[in-house]
Amino acid sequence: MASNQIQIFDTTLRDGEQVPGCKLNTAEKVELALALEDLGVDIIEAGFPISSPGDFASVEAISKVIKNATVCGLTRAVQKDIEVAAQALKHAVRPRIHTGIGSSDIHIKHKFNTTREDIIERARKATILARNLVPDVEFFAEDAGRADLPFLAKLIETVIAAGATVVNIPDTTGYCLPHQYGEKIAYLVNNVPNIDKAIISCHCHNDLGLATANSIAGAIAGARQIECTINGIGERAGNTSLEEVVMIIKKHNDLGLFTNIKTEKLNPLSQLVSDTMRMPVQPNKAVVGANAFAHSSGIHQDGFLKEATTYEIMTPEEVGADGSKIVLTARSGRSALAHRFLKLGFEFNRNDIDTLYSEFLKVADKKKEVLDEDLKEMATQFASA
Ligand code: KIV
Ligand code: ZN
Repeated sequence: MASNQIQIFDTTLRDGEQVPGCKLNTAEKVELALALEDLGVDIIEAGFPISSPGDFASVEAISKVIKNATVCGLTRAVQKDIEVAAQALKHAVRPRIHTGIGSSDIHIKHKFNTTREDIIERARKATILARNLVPDVEFFAEDAGRADLPFLAKLIETVIAAGATVVNIPDTTGYCLPHQYGEKIAYLVNNVPNIDKAIISCHCHNDLGLATANSIAGAIAGARQIECTINGIGERAGNTSLEEVVMIIKKHNDLGLFTNIKTEKLNPLSQLVSDTMRMPVQPNKAVVGANAFAHSSGIHQDGFLKEATTYEIMTPEEVGADGSKIVLTARSGRSALAHRFLKLGFEFNRNDIDTLYSEFLKVADKKKEVLDEDLKEMATQFASA
C-alpha cells in the first residue's frame, strides 16, 4: 500500500445495520457486499458473527463471494467471540478479525468494572488469540475519543506488540472536535514506539455532526484507514459518511491522499442502500442528496447557467448523480425562466420574458415549485393573447 492511500473500511453492514429498522437478511447483505466491492472499498465489515445465527450466516456467505476486498468480522475481546468470528470468516480470501475493548475510564469503570491494567491484559490476550486464527487483526480501543492519552498509547503499543495489524481509534460517542481528534492521532504517531508496524484507523460517530471532519483530521495527522458507511448511517446520529470523505479526499488533492473508490458509483449505491434499508436519504445530504446539484435561487441559477463551476465544486457525473437541476420557485430569476422555456421549445425575446416573468411570479408564490406543465400553459396563453 502506498503511504498516501487511505484505505476505505466500509461498515454499512455492521455499524450501519445497527440502525433501528434497518436490519438486513443474508441475501440483502450479500447483494450490498458485492456492490461495495464493485465500488472499490478495501475492507467490508460484514457483521458481528457471535451476535446471532443470522449474522454468522451473513458473514459466512459474504466471505464466500467477495474476492478482492478484505472481509471483516467484529468481536468483543472475548475468546468465544473471536473463535466464532474466525469460523464465520474461514472461506474469506482476506479475512480480518476486528476485536477490541473499552479504553476510556467511563467505559472501564461502568461497563467493565475493572482497572486499566486488566483492560491492557484482556486486549493483549484477545489480539494474540485472533492473530493465531487469522493473519490480519484490527484492534479497536472503544471510546478512545474520551480516553486518557498516555493510557491509550500504552494500550495501542501493547496490541501492536501482540500482533495487531490495524489499530482503530474510535470516537465512539462523537465527542471530539476535529483539532482534538487530529491531535490524538498525532500523539499516537509520536508516542507509540512501534506505531509504524500498524495502520491507524479513524472510526468517528456523528453525534455533533463532526464525524467526517474528525476522520479527515485523523487522516491529515497520519491515519491511513477511515471507517465509514454509505449515507453516513449508523448508531444514533450515524457514522462518517463514505461519500463525503471520499469526495473530500478527491477534491482536495492538496492533501496528497487518495482512495480507490470509483466515485461515479456513489449515487447508485446510495440509492440501493437507502432502498434496501428502507432509510431515506435527506435531500440536503452532501454528495448524494436529491438537492446536492439543485439550484433554486435567481443569483445562483444565473451564475450556474453562465458557468457551472460558479456554484458546483464537483460534477454530477463524477458522483453518478442524474444531473444538475434548475428548480423554478418564487426565488428564481429571468435567466432560469428563459432557459427552461427554451428547453421546452419556446423561444422568447427579453421583453416577452419580462411579461412572462410577472405571470410566473404569481404562479410561483402559490406553489413550492413551478413545473413544466405550468410553464407550457403560460406559454400557450401568452401566444394566444
Ligand atoms: O463506535 C465504536 O466504537 C465501534 C467499535 C465497535 C469499533 O463501533
Ligand atoms: Zn461505531
